[in-house]
Amino acid sequence: MKHPRAERTLVLVKPDAMQRGLLGEIIKRFEQKGLKIVGMKMMQLDRDILAKHYAKHADRPFFESLVKSMSYSPVVAMVVSGIRAIGAVRIIVGPTKGYEAPAGSIRGDLSMSTQSNLAHASDPEEDPEAEIALFFKPEELFEYIPIDFEILYGDEERAA
Ligand code: CMP
Repeated sequence: MKHPRAERTLVLVKPDAMQRGLLGEIIKRFEQKGLKIVGMKMMQLDRDILAKHYAKHADRPFFESLVKSMSYSPVVAMVVSGIRAIGAVRIIVGPTKGYEAPAGSIRGDLSMSTQSNLAHASDPEEDPEAEIALFFKPEELFEYIPIDFEILYGDEERAA
């Protein structure tokens, strides 16, 4: 059973992060924050899924380059869960441009690029659950109440 106040959000560990051996470093940051991984798999993305995932960028000049970079080699897709997880994951990943992302964020600490920015995190404005559904079947997601929720959050934060 999912905690009633827990949000879910999609994270993609991009090919550039996989090639650089940063998967563990990136997973570690979500775990250490107190967020929970409720789905995870390695995937080779193709143009079809990327065209859907990046539909809003289809007319941008960088679209072909983006598709090429995201299908260069496998990604690891994750669903991360927690109370207020959608916003928190965006902060942990940092803004798009690595060279101006704040130190402390994944992009701010580990990337100098706009395109090769290591990880994708769902935009709260763009229906994270729909994004999750593009990458995961319902049976690939695991809903459980982590036993440390009483320590991670205050009583009122957990109250439905
Ligand atoms: P992401 O969070 O996955 O969302 C869209 C992606 O497009 C973004 O991270 C970058 O990888 C890429 N992107 C955005 N803007 C540019 C740009 N100006 N040039 C190249 N790639 C970009």
